Amino acid sequence: MDPIRNPYAPGAGQRPPELAGRDQELGAFDVVLERVSRGRPERSLVLTGLRGVGKTVLLNALRSAAVRRHWGTGKLEARPDQALRRPLSSALHQAVRELGHPQSDGVDHVLGVIKAFAHREAGPDAKLRDRWNPGIEVPTTRGRADSGDIEIDLVELLTDVGGLAADQGTGVAVFVDEMQDLGADDVSALCAACHEISQSGLPVIVVGAGLPHLPAVLSASKSYSERLFRYQRIDRLPRKAADRALTAPAEDEDAAWSPDALAAMYAATGGYPYFIQAYGKAVWDRATGSPITTADVEVAAPEAEAELAVGFFGSRYDRATPGERDYLRAMADVALEETPVDVPPDDSVLTADVAASLGKKPQSLSPARDSLLKKGLIYSAERGRIAFTVPHFGRYLRESS
Ligand SMILES: Nc1ncnc2c1ncn2[C@@H]1O[C@H](COP(=O)(O)OP(=O)(O)OP(=O)(O)O)[C@@H](O)[C@H]1O
Ligand SMILES: [Mg+2]
Repeated sequence: MDPIRNPYAPGAGQRPPELAGRDQELGAFDVVLERVSRGRPERSLVLTGLRGVGKTVLLNALRSAAVRRHWGTGKLEARPDQALRRPLSSALHQAVRELGHPQSDGVDHVLGVIKAFAHREAGPDAKLRDRWNPGIEVPTTRGRADSGDIEIDLVELLTDVGGLAADQGTGVAVFVDEMQDLGADDVSALCAACHEISQSGLPVIVVGAGLPHLPAVLSASKSYSERLFRYQRIDRLPRKAADRALTAPAEDEDAAWSPDALAAMYAATGGYPYFIQAYGKAVWDRATGSPITTADVEVAAPEAEAELAVGFFGSRYDRATPGERDYLRAMADVALEETPVDVPPDDSVLTADVAASLGKKPQSLSPARDSLLKKGLIYSAERGRIAFTVPHFGRYLRESS
């Protein structure tokens, strides 16, 4: 069918034509926004899940929900080895701009505090400070959020931002994607600041998204983090939602899917959103007409797989060193051996078994494992076990060897 009218959208953070199966999360977030704007205590949301399940697009949808309620919003993507100060100041700068009222004294004060917070990263080195300008034109406020202790500074910063939002009768929401990549000090300070802010009833929330081990990262940092955040596991879509992700965009283009084709699509994609979009795109282009049939799915499947092998799996595999690749392949083999036939073998495996399969001592493999963890290719859900962060990665590795 006409590729120009192809509605499907595979790609990291690509807004899907239909955000299927996430009504519960969107509804829960509306409650959070309403309660927080009324000064009621409420836990914020943290979305966790594997690669490509739709965390980023859901985070963006939550942000849109906040904007519709006239909240100020900002977003940042954490990166390993990057301190929180600069990206957070940019996000809060954006949030304050969205609040409006640019001419008021309160706004100038808060912008000055954000600037002070951002500049503190450079320490006393004025040259370093001048090299990076957060784009805030007001003078820096002194003696607020600039102590150099990230925890103290964050509390002061969020208190002032929250105070401004409260004065204007709205709130501020900061969205942190890839939250598991925040540094240990930054995570700890962010939790402490959220704790403090929620106790003072100020309308500020931090909404996070990250890999499945994010709750463990947060609770290792502050034991009370479970009381700060409500963890929502974002997973593959159930059959009905997966069908909807395909049929709703087709309907908008006056096209349809046959029931058998939908069943074949679910078998191929496992309901994983990224795979749904990738297959949807390939099948649409190959289909001879509406309704799209099982035969169309079969014809396009190799193309979809080839596309995924490059864009989804290959791009990640390429980031691993030869030693790390051996480790990944051993994981894939062990996973296959250990899983019963009727379960997709993508579940976690024992690190000891991986070492045994490579004929090495577990300790000698720690560098490879740590590096893969840092690259976000694997995660450890519980002690002594690891799993792929990428769905169907084991299968890809086994088939491509
Ligand atoms: N609810 C949904 N319905 C239909 N398609 C979706 C849905 N959620 C996400 N997608 C599609 O899935 C793909 C992956 O989404 P996204 O980038 O948000 O995943 P992610 O969880 O952030 O992945 P990563 O961990 O790699 O950052 C995109 O092409 C997006 O359009
Ligand atoms: Mg993402």
